[in-house]
Amino acid sequence: MARVNVFDTTLRDGEQSAGVNLNRLEKIEIAKQLERLGVDIMEAGFPASSQEDFQSVKEIAETVRNCSVTGLARSFKSDIDAAWEALKGGAYPRLHVFLATSPIHMTHKLKKTPEEVVQIAVESVAYAKERFPVVQWSAEDATRSDYDFLVHIIEKVIDAGADVINLPDTVGYTTPDEYAKLFKHVKENVPNIEGVILSAHCHDDLGMAVSNSLSAIEAGAGQIEGTINGIGERAGNAALEEVSVALEIRKDRYQHETGLVLKEIKRTSDLVSKLTGMQVPGNKAVVGRNAFAHESGIHQDGVLKEATTYEIITPNMVGIESNNLVLGKHSGRHAFKQKAQSFGFELSDAKLKEAFDTFKNLTGKKKEVTDDDLFAILTDKQTEHEDVPKYELKAFQVQYGSINRPTATILLTRPDGKEIEKASTGEGSVEAIYNTLDELLEEEVHLQDYQLNSIGKGRDALAEVYVQLTVNDRTTSGRGSAQDVLEASAQAFLNAVNRTLYMSQPSDLKKEVQL
Ligand code: KIV
Ligand code: ZN
Repeated sequence: MARVNVFDTTLRDGEQSAGVNLNRLEKIEIAKQLERLGVDIMEAGFPASSQEDFQSVKEIAETVRNCSVTGLARSFKSDIDAAWEALKGGAYPRLHVFLATSPIHMTHKLKKTPEEVVQIAVESVAYAKERFPVVQWSAEDATRSDYDFLVHIIEKVIDAGADVINLPDTVGYTTPDEYAKLFKHVKENVPNIEGVILSAHCHDDLGMAVSNSLSAIEAGAGQIEGTINGIGERAGNAALEEVSVALEIRKDRYQHETGLVLKEIKRTSDLVSKLTGMQVPGNKAVVGRNAFAHESGIHQDGVLKEATTYEIITPNMVGIESNNLVLGKHSGRHAFKQKAQSFGFELSDAKLKEAFDTFKNLTGKKKEVTDDDLFAILTDKQTEHEDVPKYELKAFQVQYGSINRPTATILLTRPDGKEIEKASTGEGSVEAIYNTLDELLEEEVHLQDYQLNSIGKGRDALAEVYVQLTVNDRTTSGRGSAQDVLEASAQAFLNAVNRTLYMSQPSDLKKEVQL
């Protein structure tokens, strides 16, 4: 079995998904879980893109010790310098620098000749190599680049010091056979390729990102890049959980393995989905709600007689526990703390106490408190900023009837500690709440998106609401969970507004940088 490295870019390419806006604490929580999952390399962000991103990358590099933390840089000295400052405290620092090589990108985006592109690429790799022990160079839009030009530029950047060469399918254009051909061509024609790792980075615009990644492995890629749940720019990236489980289940064919701890897949998927607000479709391979549900009588009968009749992956392999009913109203603080630790949470005493109080409160209202509920409570608490002034919901009331216009009355504490109260109406109850909050807040707020989900099953399931807002022209997102849909809606709105209070930059440069 040959070993293939896993390069996770959930926090960089994944975070570029439309509507995703993770804060520093959320990124750190995901990074810690990726470390538990056993990724070899994690791309923590794009340090030059914003002060916010720089700080998160730096903190992740200093926190994560068991895998290499990398950051993205354009071929500018200033980007490479910013990346070095953010990553130098890491256990195994490495840089990911890129430049486009396709005629379309060179002509229209870069407005450079191929010779100029070679020169810039070589200079950036040489400059990076003076700082970083490991440098990865990516030929952006490799799959629409000229083969001879690719061979030429790759030879030059390897001479300049590149250790890993990535051939991204930036626009999700290639097919499995074509992508394999590209890897073979580079392997056979670049004279100094020996000892250099080739990497595959696939986007899913035509739904082939996972197949293309597997095909690249067969053709000699020693590293695969992707994201958890396949999130990412446009249609997303290759889903790492799918690639790794495919390698495991079909090792007879691929003869390659990753170092991932497959049992951590479900938890990682849940965490990423919860913090990004990007729901995993029910029928999604490996981690979808229905991925292990057998509906037809014939299938159920087969599975009861012998599971392998219709089940090629066991839920257990990816960390799905069938018995997840755990704590109840008689559970004490100690059992709660142990449960939190088994999830991998390391909460401060103050946060643990608050999470325990929320749990206790819930046991009074809900028949069964499941792992999903606890995971939601603990994640919310863990990713909450401590000691930062914010808006807090003190009390609210909604009057709704099929004849009258819904009215919401809300009492809030402002960041300066002052209490404020107002009432307003709307066409529906949620709109009445949001109109009232609009009147109470000083910020100029516009709602862009609203999503409502239930955590787990049953009538008494917790409601989870995600919102995307613009607050003073800045895009942000927030989430709230509560047993009541209206309370979760109000909490999500305030959570999104509060997040803008701790952002240090007036605007998020990352969204302005065209990759
Ligand atoms: O898709 C892509 O080309 C990228 C590069 C920055 C590697 O994400
Ligand atoms: Zn990408």
